Amino acid sequence: MAYAATFSLVTQVLGLTLCLLSLCCSAFTPQDYSDALEKSILFFEGQRSGKLPANQRATWRANSGLSDGSSYHVDLVGGYYDAGDNVKFGLPMAFTTTLLAWSVIEFGDSMHNQIENAKDAVRWSTDYLLKAATSTPGALYVQVADPNADHRCWERPEDMDTPRNVYKVSAQNPGSDVAAETAAALAAASIVFKDSDPSYSGKLLHTAMKVFDFADRYRGSYSDSIGSVVCPFYCSYSGYHDELLWGASWIHRASQNSSYLAYIKSNGHILGADDDDFSFSWDDKRPGTKILLSKSFLEKNNEEFQLYKAHSDNYICSLLPGTSNFQAQYTPGGLLYKASESNLQYVTSATLLLLTYAKYLRTNGGVATCGSSKVTAETLISEAKKQVDYILGDNPAKISYMVGFGKKYPQHIHHRGSSLPSVHEHPERISCNDGFQYLHSGSPNPNVLVGAIVGGPDSKDSFSDDRNNYQQSEPATYINAPVVGALAFFSANTNPN
Ligand SMILES: *[C@@H]1O[C@H](CO)[C@@H](O)[C@H](O)[C@H]1NC(C)=O
Repeated sequence: MAYAATFSLVTQVLGLTLCLLSLCCSAFTPQDYSDALEKSILFFEGQRSGKLPANQRATWRANSGLSDGSSYHVDLVGGYYDAGDNVKFGLPMAFTTTLLAWSVIEFGDSMHNQIENAKDAVRWSTDYLLKAATSTPGALYVQVADPNADHRCWERPEDMDTPRNVYKVSAQNPGSDVAAETAAALAAASIVFKDSDPSYSGKLLHTAMKVFDFADRYRGSYSDSIGSVVCPFYCSYSGYHDELLWGASWIHRASQNSSYLAYIKSNGHILGADDDDFSFSWDDKRPGTKILLSKSFLEKNNEEFQLYKAHSDNYICSLLPGTSNFQAQYTPGGLLYKASESNLQYVTSATLLLLTYAKYLRTNGGVATCGSSKVTAETLISEAKKQVDYILGDNPAKISYMVGFGKKYPQHIHHRGSSLPSVHEHPERISCNDGFQYLHSGSPNPNVLVGAIVGGPDSKDSFSDDRNNYQQSEPATYINAPVVGALAFFSANTNPN
């Protein structure tokens, strides 16, 4: 007995020590993160527009939008629906693509059997963006469907009969924000395909440069050019300066072409290099640009980029309670809280930045400086892990905000395709107005949109699983894209329990 007791004490002490030394005591195992990773990518199949391939795994979906662009004599078939509706919005689609590609670039090595699915998710978008960018010289197509008409219906994408109007930006009606984000997406994706498909990669990069030139040459916000159809949905509140610097930074990263370095040096100050900003989203790219450019300073000691490292530190410090510069808000349960609508988009994008910055810091033993304290990569990683774990179910409500993950997850997500019966089960068309009975029904969604992360809880950690509560129950491609990288990282860097 005595021996057993001593033995057990020893194992407890050992266990505790191991716990303190690593990121153990995790609510989730590496297998859980791998499972969540697979699902986070699978989600994108449920958002697909266009002709679905034979290997489509979200089998409740079918072809849709097959004549998108045809009445304008352009082929705009494909791409992604942004969220729970059937509109193809260019700005969030491009941003989604940039972050999916960034996830693969930084954490693809940890994706194992999911790397091909992740690359397919990027390509589904870039195939579309290439068409949008090259179909008509001097123009970039930035949206398919009239969102006001779309939102007046509750229809499956396979049934939709609302106007599939096409909107573009041009020299006369510029959209530097959406164009530079598209350039960023194409450039980031060119890195993803550099080794596996060099000719596709070259085409992406070449197109990125052309679209960036167009964005920079004809300056203006798309909210001023085509505001009636992009606002208030994806109005460019932050203007276009942030996207120009972000786009140039991605092309520089992808091409190492000195023209873009020169552009960043001479235009950086005008385009926001000196501003601090604490929110990274489809609208505002400033914090992401700082982190992306800090790599040049951290890894190559390029002094001209020290500025970006300093602002990256400010951003990181803003998220870390107890440091100077701290200014974020957290729920009592520990979730980063930015907005009542679709809050988890800010959480997942911040998580990708925390982990990416931790990676850049680690390559040269660097630290983030928050006033008088030094913050290590490990601190950034453990903050990111808290956020990811919260999303996956380690939270006061004990619910996973990823559909299809864990025992309890949202059943009534605000998503037309998921909430209406599948066309395979119910082939008869369900018209615009007839669909609303499914929106208002109390039944769980018939099609589980596996992997979708919804808008998430309120500032007090409470969540109502209600289809009408789109602020909390709607998924979006830009909520998922950055978490793909984070889940890959934790699947490879968590100790088994
Ligand atoms: C670098 O980029 C500039 C601007 O897009 C382009 O004119 C030039 O050909 C590029 N240089 C190389 C070596 O690709």
